Amino acid sequence: MGVIATSKYILEMLKIRKRYEVNDVLALNDAEIRVKQGTIHALVGENGAGKTTLMKILCGIEKKDAGEIWLNGDKVDIRNPRHSFSLGIGMVHQHFRLIDDFTVAENVVLGVEITRKFGFISLRDVILAVKRLSKDSGLMIEPSLKVRELSMGQRQKVEILKLLYRGADIIVLDEPTSVLTEQEITDLFNAVRRLKAQGKTIIFISHKLKEVMEISDEITVLRKGKTVQTGKTEELNEKEIAYAMVGEEIPLEIKTSKGLSMPKRAILHVRDLHVKDRRGLVEEVRGISFDVKAGEILGIAGVAGNGQKELVEALFGIRKASSGSVFIDGKDVTSSSIRVHRENGMAYIPDDRIGEGSCPTSSIVENIIADRYYKPVLSNRSWIDISAARRMAGTLVKEYDVRTSSIYSTIGMLSGGNIQKIIIAREFSSNPKVLIICEPTWGLDIRSTKFVYDRLMEMKINRKAILLISSNLDEILDLSDRILVIYEGEIVADFNNTAVLTKAVIGEYMMGLHLKTLRREKSTTL
Ligand SMILES: Nc1ncnc2c1ncn2[C@@H]1O[C@H](COP(=O)(O)OP(=O)(O)OP(=O)(O)O)[C@@H](O)[C@H]1O
Ligand SMILES: [Mg+2]
Repeated sequence: MGVIATSKYILEMLKIRKRYEVNDVLALNDAEIRVKQGTIHALVGENGAGKTTLMKILCGIEKKDAGEIWLNGDKVDIRNPRHSFSLGIGMVHQHFRLIDDFTVAENVVLGVEITRKFGFISLRDVILAVKRLSKDSGLMIEPSLKVRELSMGQRQKVEILKLLYRGADIIVLDEPTSVLTEQEITDLFNAVRRLKAQGKTIIFISHKLKEVMEISDEITVLRKGKTVQTGKTEELNEKEIAYAMVGEEIPLEIKTSKGLSMPKRAILHVRDLHVKDRRGLVEEVRGISFDVKAGEILGIAGVAGNGQKELVEALFGIRKASSGSVFIDGKDVTSSSIRVHRENGMAYIPDDRIGEGSCPTSSIVENIIADRYYKPVLSNRSWIDISAARRMAGTLVKEYDVRTSSIYSTIGMLSGGNIQKIIIAREFSSNPKVLIICEPTWGLDIRSTKFVYDRLMEMKINRKAILLISSNLDEILDLSDRILVIYEGEIVADFNNTAVLTKAVIGEYMMGLHLKTLRREKSTTL
């Protein structure tokens, strides 16, 4: 009695064990993390290692089977998300949880009672509060925009603002930088450092070890549900962490063949494409033209929200173009349905893999056959050949190294990285002529990233025309033969990816610093 808690840790999670019964996966097996107050603590591990599960337990979303949680030296039994929140814990999820038709401000205050007289929320006050919060944290965003209109990067900001608005003390960020541009990451890190200076504690999950080294004070490594290493960041190096994550030596660098081939025949032709936003008011794509050749990777670099999404959706038939044309191998597919695009050999991997790329409540088998169930390999017109579908799913799961206990697991039960592998498996195996791929390695661990890059190179060697959209400039530079920069719906630069091209140069065009001086390089021979 009268004992004052003197723990040096704000949070201790000890010997946490968790089995998901639906699929009989032991997600956590004696996982541990000890976090000091006012620090940035990185939690790393391969896809499926249990990072999100551990944090969901902290947030009261999942129940642990065994283990203890201590907060400020007191043992707590976290009953549900509301309880966890009342203890000052908040989490930004790996997959966003925003309401598309609500504005930024509405999403930020959703669920928090700031009622005025008569129990109504004053929208003006809300917008003002969000504006202030946005300014204080450095996470700038216009509060009156609808979430539907936002890029993934902007949505991420809203999620973080939401937490800040609730005033959480321990803030969990589950892969917050995945779809941010370098500038946005810098902003986020500044915001995170500001929070730390205010005494907040941040748990930061990321697959990007460079980021982890840059931002964190301490690191905990999970492997297959177990904590295998923990320590001060300054006493560890990237190689050691990678080794701890995987349990074996892995090469960190990737081998690509950019610029080596000289592709000739254009497969995808895009001519003077104009696309409007969903309300049909603003032109988001303003007269874009380019070709992608067989055996070429064309990278599109740009700060998220500059028309990339509208462009790819129009290319794949998800949106209608207001004018202009799209040809696949000579066939005009402008404004045709998605199925016509697929039948003409186009495959598409969107950045939003839960919302668009997959059906989270359906099984792996169903998700894999979603684009091909009516084709002869799987169907005789009236029946789907279930055993052929199973065989196909089984082979792809093996080939793409998807970590799952069964092909009947629903996609929503897989870890983030494994969901991406399923979508990639489906789209790559559809044997397309043209592949549009957005943020291909968002959320993937080192091994899976390398796997995807190797596969992309194979696709290239097999003379596929590949359009790569990525907010990760390193990725664009590592993989692309040619790079276009998109800014405010227009192509503002067109580069051959030669050794002299730097991130800084591309970055300047991405920021619109060379407006109106369109840069075009003549094709040069290497
Ligand atoms: N809701 C769920 N139901 C059943 N199994 C699940 C569920 N969520 C996760 N799992 C399983 O638990 C294991 C750990 O998943 P978790 O999402 O915690 O991994 P992670 O480390 O966050 O991976 P990633 O880096 O891919 O996000 C995986 O094998 C996953 O398939
Ligand atoms: Mg996760």
